Amino acid sequence: MIVCVCEGVSDRVVRAHIQRGSDSVEALGQSCRAGTDCGRCRDMLRTLVAERALQRASTAPLKLPEPEAT
Ligand code: FES
Repeated sequence: MIVCVCEGVSDRVVRAHIQRGSDSVEALGQSCRAGTDCGRCRDMLRTLVAERALQRASTAPLKLPEPEAT
């Protein structure tokens, strides 16, 4: 599905750039040009970035505090 009509960028391309480290709308604009023209796609770009952040957070190992020595 095309996410950014102005630049012809699909959700697959956006997800690939997010995967490689573009973690904001601005970073996506620099890496694949999505969101750099009219801006109507920026909410969708933010959603895709947030979706990936949630995936990372849900798969990150849970860090528990060390038990106190008694
Ligand atoms: S639709 Fe993405 S900048 Fe216009």
